[in-house]
Amino acid sequence: MIKAIKGTKDTFSPEIEKWHFLEDNVRIILENFNYTEIRTPIFEETSLFSRGIGENTDIVGKEMYSFIDKSENNVTLKPEMTASVMRSVIEHSLHRNKPLNKFYYISPMFRQERPQAGRLRQFHQFGAEVLGSNSPYLDAEMIIMPYMILSNLGLENFKVKINSLGTPQSREKYKIILKEYLTDKFEELSEESKRRFETNILRIFDSKLEQDIQIMNNAPKLLDYLSEEDLNHFETVKNILENTQIDFEIDTKLVRGLDYYTHTTFEIVSESVGAQSALLGGGRYNLLSKQLGEDEIPAVGFAAGMERILLAMTNEKLFNEEEQPKIPLYVVRLSEDVTAQAFNLALLFRMDGIITEVDYLNRSVKAQMREANRLGAKFTLLVGGEEFQNEKIILKKMETGESEEFSIDDTDGILNLISKSEYEDEIEE
Ligand code: HAM
Repeated sequence: MIKAIKGTKDTFSPEIEKWHFLEDNVRIILENFNYTEIRTPIFEETSLFSRGIGENTDIVGKEMYSFIDKSENNVTLKPEMTASVMRSVIEHSLHRNKPLNKFYYISPMFRQERPQAGRLRQFHQFGAEVLGSNSPYLDAEMIIMPYMILSNLGLENFKVKINSLGTPQSREKYKIILKEYLTDKFEELSEESKRRFETNILRIFDSKLEQDIQIMNNAPKLLDYLSEEDLNHFETVKNILENTQIDFEIDTKLVRGLDYYTHTTFEIVSESVGAQSALLGGGRYNLLSKQLGEDEIPAVGFAAGMERILLAMTNEKLFNEEEQPKIPLYVVRLSEDVTAQAFNLALLFRMDGIITEVDYLNRSVKAQMREANRLGAKFTLLVGGEEFQNEKIILKKMETGESEEFSIDDTDGILNLISKSEYEDEIEE
């Protein structure tokens, strides 16, 4: 049997309804902030990511799905969107036509990581990017927006962590200090951290190994080496968050795994998802445009892992797993000779926006009623028999058994009754 590739997933009802619920929430909130959707190709030239994210990052070094296509192009399935959004803005000169470009996305991403709960090889992110401004209000907005989304979904067990990485200049100065501090302790570091010591020293802060954590807890802090300007920017972001009543903590070890960050970085982590606790991450990336050969375009953004958010929602019991989606109408065919009429009637209600089911399996009337019950149909429309010969059809309310006769062309009357009942149900909820 051919199976889906390890680390990928098929999604269908009842899971798909959870995805729709999440996506609807994302769109509503991000559009309220006047972000519009951007869609970019699933694959890009590999150099976009190796230059944008950085050669020495885990993503580029170990996790990308890259291949040479039949035209000898080196292409990569996108592992994230930030570099693609920047590429698109530059390619279409959007930054020259408009001072500020605000985009959001909902899209699959690809990273060849070891699959586990909350970590897939094809996963999905929603996120937002704003290009063209240095305003600390935008750094704060990139935390406020996902915070609102998570709260709106009903999630509670999450925490905002923020840090500042300053400019590359302050970071380079700090790296020398950190290197001095770690030189003495080099032999005590894990093998992975010894390697990072040479390639990407800040990432040693990401190590989950006790031996590294001990050492890094006492390491000099990057925040102490930032310039006054960097610190002012960070201070303002913190003030804005405080004023908007967003709880956050400062995590000086939050270095993030992508090289393009400058100034503010942040993550929202949750205790409801196990080891892969980051629901989302982001930050400012003022120099990414330069790495892609363009003038400086100050920018900031975030991206959230949708599988992780859905997992957190499941673990916080925000989905009513027992509740089956109900449909408003099932058209029951009382005899075979009215099959076409039943089908046509169903079509009329469907065109009027009522979710309607009809039998396609030549089932007996009893079996059709059973199916209507299984689908939770609120009404059945009985088509056939003597009534039908007299150009009448019967609408039956399943909960009470009450039925009402309608003339076959009185679809408006039937629609009114169904809509009224839908409306009453909504009020009850
Ligand atoms: P990232 O931290 O690499 O940042 O990913 C953001 C989120 O995507 C993570 O917090 C996590 O929830 C989810 N995620 C990452 N890898 C996986 C995986 N293998 N399986 C499931 N979920 C995963 C970025 O991607 C940056 N582009 C964020 C950003 C936007 N920075 C500025 N703008």
